[in-house]
Parts: sequence; structure tokens; C-alpha cells
Amino acid sequence: MSTGTEGTSAAAAGLRGVVAAQSSIGDVNGEQGVLIYQGYDIHDLAEHSTFEEVVFLLWNGRLPKQDELEALTKEIRANYAIPAEIVAGMKYMPKDADPMDVLRTCVSALDFYDKDGHGTDREAAMKSAIKLTGQIGTIAAAWDRIRNGKDIVSPDSSLSIAENFLYMLRGTKPDADEARMFDVCLILHADHELNASTFTTRVVAGTLADMYGCVTAGIAALAGPLHGGANTAVMKMLIEIGDVDKVDGWLEKALEEKRKIMGIGHAVYKTEDPRATWLRRYSKQMAEKSGESKWFDMSQKIEKLMLEKKGMHPNVDFYSASTYYLMGIALDMYTPIFAVSRISGWTGHILEQYGNNKLIRPRAEYIGQRDLKYAAIGER
Ligand code: COA
Repeated sequence: MSTGTEGTSAAAAGLRGVVAAQSSIGDVNGEQGVLIYQGYDIHDLAEHSTFEEVVFLLWNGRLPKQDELEALTKEIRANYAIPAEIVAGMKYMPKDADPMDVLRTCVSALDFYDKDGHGTDREAAMKSAIKLTGQIGTIAAAWDRIRNGKDIVSPDSSLSIAENFLYMLRGTKPDADEARMFDVCLILHADHELNASTFTTRVVAGTLADMYGCVTAGIAALAGPLHGGANTAVMKMLIEIGDVDKVDGWLEKALEEKRKIMGIGHAVYKTEDPRATWLRRYSKQMAEKSGESKWFDMSQKIEKLMLEKKGMHPNVDFYSASTYYLMGIALDMYTPIFAVSRISGWTGHILEQYGNNKLIRPRAEYIGQRDLKYAAIGER
């Protein structure tokens, strides 16, 4: 009997290679290791742009003029603050709650305080995108302070998103070098085509659900260790190994046990992830600045061995781990930082989906049984 899904089983195993949407936001060339945002090479943007400019680019499809950049920056900064109710709510949460769970819960709750938050026309959705881009870092930083029994640091609207996040997290403003480095980290994580969390946001947007719901779902997807959660897992792995001399033995055993080496491999890149090129540089820079080179040295050794043994390269999460670690950031805050950046790509994709919507409703290839006869419970 025809089910209408014959011939589509090539779509199995994680939908690899399946084109599931048209988008002009970003593109990944996995063979050549090229990542572009709206036509601009990631290396060019990392060299010359700012995160705020990239946000404009992802949302509008072109680089901003000076006055446009100033206007957007001003609007985002005007939305750094989060409702007092959200802060009060966080104070009731268990102190050992995972920051990604807190972020997911609070982003979902932000919807209550945005009266236009259910609008899916471009103007209303853009307002929510601006609010979310301003507020997501404030939630993440506030939680890290609350769980550590510290007073939260109010956002400073004279600071960029990168500077303000580090300021709210640590209570001191970063120096110019660190601020630039972190700004580039945000640029590098901003978009990555139809990765798992972005695809998730588009599926939710396709139902015409609101922007907060879409982003909440995106955060849930990002949290997994096979996606954004890998950066935290990388640092845990480096700490578990403990020393450069132990890398060989540890890795051999881990591969024997068929463990996945976190931060290595990618569903699309078959060569160097261009984002890793920058993060390797930053990890080295932080090692030199702090005088603590073992994390970088261990990472380099793992990279070399994984290339020799498995032909696999590091991805975006591999060197961001040791970079953030030496910036004094708690391990479980690395994935929220990913979200502080990826909010730009998610919201860009949601805007794009709303703008030309079609409900996303694929088929499953049914591999179960058919024509079974129902048996009464006592007769099974
Ligand atoms: N360490 C060791 N082996 C790995 C590996 C890794 N990090 N990544 C993939 N492999 C191996 C798998 O075990 C599998 O081997 P097998 O064919 O002998 O069973 C093979 O490579 C294919 O793996 P698969 O998971 O199917 O490939 P994928 O394209 O779906 O993997 C990832 C993509 C990213 C999920 C995978 O590389 C991974 O889990 N990496 C670690 C987590 C990570 O860093 N995630 C962040 C991604 S940006």
C-alpha cells in the first residue's frame, strides 16, 4: 500500500545533506571550510566588523550605514534591562540549576512582559528580536551572579553587547583587547545556517508561534552536548585529562571506548572550521597573557592526534573552551554565551521564516508493523 513516503529514505540519519529551507542569511561550504553571512566571509567580518553590525547584517541582508548602525545599537542598548519580575523569579530558582535551563525558562517568561511579543509581522517581530538580543546576556550574567550569592550588576548602556556582558558577569569592565576578542567570539557564533537550534527555531516559527517560543525552543536544542553544549564538555575533558603528557594515553583509551572527543568533528565541515582558526588564535593569546599554557598545549596535541588518527578537525567549540576558561568564566556559562551570540542568527531566521512562511511538516518513513488486530488486555 502506498504511504506517499517511498523513495525518501535517503533523508534518514539526521537529515544529512537534505536541503530543508531556502535562506539568504548564511552559508557553510563544508568541503572548503568557508562560512559566509549574507555574502560576507566570516574572516572578513571577524577582522573588520562588530557584533552589532553583524546583527544588522543578519536581519537586513546588508551592512548598515553609520546612522543605521547607531540607531540599532541605541535600540538594543535601551533593551539591556530585564523586568524586575524575571530577576525576582531567578532568585527563587535552585542555585544548582543549569544556566541553560535558567536561560530557557527566563526567555520563555520574557514573553509575558512584551505586549507585542506575539506579532509575526516584520515590525512587531523585529521589536521582539531587538528586545531579546538586548536581554539575553543580562539574564545569563544575572544568573551567574545570583547563584553565587552576589548582587547582580545592572547593564551599562554605554557599553557594547560584548563589553556589557563581561561587565555584568564579572563586575569589572574588560580592557580593549579582551573586549575586542570577545566581540569577535560573538561574531563567530552568530549564525551557522541550518544547525540544529536554528532549524528548531524555524520549525516553531513555521507554525506562526511567537518569537519567544521559537527562541525558547532554540535554547533547548542548543543546550545538548552534541550542539552548543560541546564547549563546556571540551573544558571538562581537558580538566579530566589534566596534563599534556596524559593526552596520548587518555585519547587512545577514549577512542578504544568509542567515546566522542568533544569539540572535534562536524556534521558539515570536512576540513578546518573557519571559526576554529580564530578561536585557536585566541586560546593561544589567552595562554600567553595568563602564563597558563597547558590548556592550549593540550588542545593542540588533541587536535594533532585526532587529525592523524581520525582525519577530524576541531570545530567552533574546541578552542572557545580554553579561551573562556582563561577569561575566568564558569564552565557552564560557555553555552549561554553561545546563545548570547546565536540569538542574532535565530531571530534572523525567524524573521525570514515569518516573511515567507510555509508550515514545516515533513513525513516520516514508517518502519513499524501494519494490519495488527487489537487484542483485549487479558488476551495479550
Ligand atoms: N570523536 C570521535 N569520533 C567521532 C567524533 C568525535 N568527536 N565525531 C564523529 N566521530 C566518529 C563517530 O564515532 C562515527 O564513527 P563510526 O562510523 O565508526 O561509528 C563517525 O565519526 C561519524 O560520526 P557521526 O556522529 O555520525 O558524524 P556526524 O557528522 O553526525 O557528527 C558531530 C557530527 C558534531 C555530532 C560529531 O562529530 C560529534 O559528536 N562531535 C563531538 C561533539 C561536538 O563537538 N559538537 C559540536 C559540533 S559544532
